[in-house]
Amino acid sequence: MMVPPQRIRQWSTGQDGLDKLRLDETDCPTPGQDEVLVEVHAVSLNYRDTEVAMGLYNHHKSVDHPPALVPCSDMCGVVVAVGPYSKNTSDPYKNPAFQLKEGDRVISTFAATHLTGQVQASDVANGLGGPAPGVLTQYRVFPTYNVVKVPNYLSAQEASCLPIAAMTAWMSLNCMRAQGEIIGPNETVLCQGTGGVSIAALQIAAAAGASVVITSSSDSKLERARKLGAKTLVNYNSTPDWEAFVLKATADAGADVVLEVGGAKTLRKSFDCVKFGGLIACIGYLSGKVDDDTDRTNTNLLCLKRNVTLKGILNGPRDRLEEMLRFYKEKGIKPVVDRVFKFEEGNEALKYLYSGGHFGKVVVQVKE
Ligand SMILES: NC(=O)c1ccc[n+]([C@@H]2O[C@H](COP(=O)([O-])OP(=O)(O)OC[C@H]3O[C@@H](n4cnc5c(N)ncnc54)[C@H](OP(=O)(O)O)[C@@H]3O)[C@@H](O)[C@H]2O)c1
Repeated sequence: MMVPPQRIRQWSTGQDGLDKLRLDETDCPTPGQDEVLVEVHAVSLNYRDTEVAMGLYNHHKSVDHPPALVPCSDMCGVVVAVGPYSKNTSDPYKNPAFQLKEGDRVISTFAATHLTGQVQASDVANGLGGPAPGVLTQYRVFPTYNVVKVPNYLSAQEASCLPIAAMTAWMSLNCMRAQGEIIGPNETVLCQGTGGVSIAALQIAAAAGASVVITSSSDSKLERARKLGAKTLVNYNSTPDWEAFVLKATADAGADVVLEVGGAKTLRKSFDCVKFGGLIACIGYLSGKVDDDTDRTNTNLLCLKRNVTLKGILNGPRDRLEEMLRFYKEKGIKPVVDRVFKFEEGNEALKYLYSGGHFGKVVVQVKE
């Protein structure tokens, strides 16, 4: 049996800049009722983590960050101690199916309390790495409902990429379908850029037989996307009217699903190249209902024009993460890890992600 150390190291942020993260020492926590202690092996980074560290993650009114915070939400680790489990309880958060044993390999879920169905403000207020303590630490206690077992075919680095990026991609592609139905052949997916969410969407859509169109600012990244199964590639810098390119590439039909991560500068173009009756999954940031100081058509009318459903995506519940893991295992999908940093370089890893030079995911190896 593994004995955890008394003192551990963890990164913290005062949300005052990517240059100001600190690597501190603290006591190793012990698990309480229905909790497990996890030795963190790998942490993957999300754009959100850089925003939290810079004090810019403020668009959820229910989220009130504490002054000092352990950053990051997505980890893979191993259970090294378990607390006592509740017996004969009907509390969904104490579901006996969630119970784990020492040695189980797990990933964290993002909004701990979001087990199923529609996300609520109270779930967002439980987000790991802001406002709840994050995972860029050597050991962390989790309630059993906040972690999910992962299949062995994935390395810790790969598995750490799933909770936000892949889960958000999965929900964007599948959340509007009937239970059990997923994206399939004869559908076209438009992925914007080559960051974590977009590359996960490319992998899932390609594995399901869908046709993928992807944009990027970099021809070399587009070439890497082609090797992952993207059929149509377009550089949004050298082809600023990429929406026309997408329409042409789809014989004027447009994309069935658009993963809208760009927000303000891309949304209008997405409306012009989505299929009639298609879905724009609004993942990145949108501002307001009316275009201030211009006479441009507002978002509501753009939506109406092509009879499009506009669906905001906010990660997804635990049961959909488990559904996604079954699909990943069946198809043998491995998340794309662009670069791995040492634990001591956690701050440098966040700066690298913020620079946008990556393709897929950036990971911090916490345990060598
Ligand atoms: N709603 C949710 O649940 C949820 C979950 C995850 C992420 N998000 C949001 O989704 C966005 C992406 O997150 P991420 O973690 O995937 O980020 P990321 O890994 O940091 O991705 C950054 C990449 O996005 C691409 N990009 C930047 N500006 C673009 C533009 N104008 N048009 C097209 N692509 C552009 C770039 O790709 P190239 O270098 O190839 O150009 C860049 O490398 C962020 O706004 C994040 O906050 C939301």
